[in-house]
Parts: sequence; C-alpha cells; structure tokens
Amino acid sequence: MYSDDDAAALYDVLNPWAPSDDFYLSHVMAADAVLDVGCGTGMMLHRARREGHTGRLCGVDPDTASLRRARTRKDAEWVEGRADGMAFDGEFDLAFMASNAFQVLVTDAELRESLAAIRAALREGGGFVFGTRNPSDRGWERWRPENAAEVVDHHGREVRVEHRVEEVADGRVTFTETTAIRGGEALRVDRSTLRFLDATQIDALLAETGFATVERYGDWGRGPLTDTSRNIVTVARAA
Ligand SMILES: C[S@@+](CC[C@H](N)C(=O)[O-])C[C@H]1O[C@@H](n2cnc3c(N)ncnc32)[C@H](O)[C@@H]1O
Repeated sequence: MYSDDDAAALYDVLNPWAPSDDFYLSHVMAADAVLDVGCGTGMMLHRARREGHTGRLCGVDPDTASLRRARTRKDAEWVEGRADGMAFDGEFDLAFMASNAFQVLVTDAELRESLAAIRAALREGGGFVFGTRNPSDRGWERWRPENAAEVVDHHGREVRVEHRVEEVADGRVTFTETTAIRGGEALRVDRSTLRFLDATQIDALLAETGFATVERYGDWGRGPLTDTSRNIVTVARAA
C-alpha cells in the first residue's frame, strides 16, 4: 500500500520546479503578504522564504498529508481548509493558485464561493494569479497509460504513475491516477475530477466576484493565448 504521506512525498518527486513556478515566484517575491490557495506540500512558499521573502506567507489546503509535509518547515503559516471556507479579511496583497489548483474547484457554487473568499482575503487592488489548462487543447487526451511517468520515489523504489480518463462531460474530466511498482502491483488508485473553463467563462466568474482580469497569457513566458495554448494564465486585480 501507498499511504497519503507517501503520495504527498511522491507528488514532489513528480512535480519538480518548472517554468510556471518561476512565473508564480516572481509575483510572490514582489508582494508583501501572500496567500497560497491549494498550497499542497508548500513548495512555493518554502522557496520564497529561502529566496529572502520577509513578509507574511500563508498556505491553505484541505489535504492533511500534504500539509503535514509543508509543516516540516515553520517558515510560513499552514492552514488546513478549503478555499471556499477561508475567512481572511483584507489581509493579503497577492493570492495565487499554482499547478492548476484552480481546476479542483469543480462546481459553479464552489468556484463562486472560493473566488469570493479569495477576494475578501485581498486588500483593495490586491492581485490574484492562477493558471488553468486550456480546454481547447484537450490535454486530457494525453492522460493515457502510455504517457505514464516512471520515477524513483522517496523510498528509493521505482514506481510508475499512470492516468486513465473515465468521463468527459460538462467541462469536467474525471480520471484515475494509479501508482504502481514499475512492472508490478498497483499500490494505490486515486480518482479525481477537474473543471476546464475557457477564458470567457473565467473572466465572467472573476467579474461576478469582484475582480478584473488585467493580464492574460497562453504560456509561462507571457506569450499570447491561442486555441492551441496549453494554459490559460490569468493575472487579476481586486476591483
Ligand atoms: C495540483 S495540487 C497543487 C499543489 C500546489 N499548489 C503546487 O503547486 O504544487 C492541487 C491542490 O489543491 C488542493 N485542493 C483540493 N481541493 C481544494 C479546495 N477546495 N480548496 C483549496 N485547495 C484544494 C489539493 O489538496 C492539492 O494540494
């Protein structure tokens, strides 16, 4: 078996520092008080502190095992909870959701309530930066066993992580992630659903919840958004 703590440690092996992280880090380092929504194992805020960030850094995530891993360093506040349950009040200059965490917000109600809570957490003029996979790129079609990742985990075991899509409906993709010993038995299977919104839908939700979109890109090098872009990168301001 593969415990939740094992899965959290494996997440960090599977997700090394990437160009998207440089994008987020540049925003984090330019802001004084920062809220990482869906912070996972805390990699971004740990890095910001190591790079010399001296202000408030706060990460929120509902996953106990990920937060346990984040809390191995006391360099930020780590809060267990969901985005739609946050009760911060005008305390932050920047909120962000890295690694497509925005897509875990699946229902319209959860999206609206989460965005409203993020808006309430920000000071006037504060920024909200996030990325989400572009639905027109149909990235889920690449989530197939032949595209599995093979890595050495924190125990030194060779593991294989593969994805299988179960359903695509109403802008929601449900899939399984199977972690197995390479060439051998499955250790755990996780099922998730992610929401895919296009730029028009994102902007409408942001406007409804008190934000204005101020920058929009299709990649982490600040290139334009097109139908073939893999990402929709949004920089919004609390209006
Ligand atoms: C793809 S991970 C991204 C983690 C981290 N931001 C990173 O860059 O590595 C998505 C995270 O969103 C968290 N999450 C799930 N539901 C959430 C919710 N309703 N509110 C906030 N975070 C949530 C998960 O526990 C997970 O840690």
